[in-house]
Amino acid sequence: MKLQLTHVLFAVLQTLGLLAYAADPAPEPAPEQPDLAALAQLMSPGAQLYMLRGCHACHGIQGEGVVPKHGPRLAGLPAEYIARQLTHFQNGTRGGSFDDLYGRQMQLAVNSLSAIHIQLIAQHLANFRAAPPLETQLDGDWAKGSQIYQDQCLACHGEAGVGNLALEGTPLAGQIDVYLAQQLRNYQGGIRGSHADDIFGRQMSASMAGLASEQDIVDVSLYLATVGGVAEAAPPTTPEEVVASFYRRLDGRDKNAIYEILHPDVVFHFPDRQVTGPAGYWAYVSQIALLIPDYRHELKGIETEATDQSMVHVKSISISGSLANGEDLTLPGTARYRVVNGKIVEAWVG
Ligand code: HEC
Ligand code: HEC
Repeated sequence: MKLQLTHVLFAVLQTLGLLAYAADPAPEPAPEQPDLAALAQLMSPGAQLYMLRGCHACHGIQGEGVVPKHGPRLAGLPAEYIARQLTHFQNGTRGGSFDDLYGRQMQLAVNSLSAIHIQLIAQHLANFRAAPPLETQLDGDWAKGSQIYQDQCLACHGEAGVGNLALEGTPLAGQIDVYLAQQLRNYQGGIRGSHADDIFGRQMSASMAGLASEQDIVDVSLYLATVGGVAEAAPPTTPEEVVASFYRRLDGRDKNAIYEILHPDVVFHFPDRQVTGPAGYWAYVSQIALLIPDYRHELKGIETEATDQSMVHVKSISISGSLANGEDLTLPGTARYRVVNGKIVEAWVG
């Protein structure tokens, strides 16, 4: 693969008319324009549909969820579950109730998707790696929530909310807490899971009997939102550890890492453009995720410069993963980082 990744991304986004989502002003035109027909094949049809249909506005480019839009996290949910929900939104089995404000929003978003489009989008979302929670908003008792979960939910939703495919129990760990609580209220009030055709939803509704109070709902939602997060063994101390920890957490799709480890004014210098600020960097990696949903980084030969202790050199940094056509892709490079007071303030990636 000789094409430079940033050129590829630029061309794909241009093809889709999505450059407005790129973090910074349009870069200088690439000297050699990549073959657009070849690029369209690099991005899965599901990824293209997901962007073109505007799903990312409420669910995030990496399916990580968008709290202010009430859009739940979709990354890593089983394709079958996602497809079933989309079909249910379409035919009113879910979101058909007048009281279901958010469900009705979703109905509008899916009403003209064909069955094949639903399958393609569901597969694309399932290929994303699941992320830890973005942020929690509920005030509850985690230990009580954990106890409720072990007693009443674990059988169908698996150890620590990882899901139980055999029983169609959805993975719940790391989902946005407010969304979880809303779904539980919906099941309880018959807004979700009461339709005659909703076989699995009705199983879930029947399981709500043991949740005595609103506080139980809040406690168990808080527990599920935060269980299984990737905890770093110890906070990084040296500049090398800061860089290594940043990529490790990024590979765990931990969006918080971006804001914790990157300085608010960070600048990333790539060969053909600059990306500034944590939000700009997240937009940049999200573009990579459109082509390579399961991307991960590998860093080798990390060392601190002898004369300037804030400079970290990485002799080899590669991004790898699978393309839509099933081919594995590895993009090798090198990088230098300036780390001040535990934060990455500037980076040169080539
Ligand atoms: C206007 C914002 C918005 C848009 C656009 C949108 N969604 Fe949603 N989506 C939501 C909200 C809000 C919910 C939660 C509904 C509820 O509370 O039941 C949701 C729920 C879902 C769910 C159910 C998740 C679960 O865990 O059960 C799926 C799947 C989904 N959306 C996929 C999509 C896809 C695919 C698209 C693009 C075709 C899309 N959404 C576009 C806001 C949106
Ligand atoms: C008898 C099995 C069973 C039990 C017990 C059960 N669930 Fe479920 N749950 C399901 C199934 C099946 C679904 C998927 C419904 C669908 O496909 O529409 C589900 C869906 C859910 C959802 C919606 C997920 C989403 O992404 O929208 C939440 C939240 C949930 N369950 C929480 C719980 C909690 C909390 C408990 C314990 C109080 C619990 N469940 C107990 C079977 C169960």
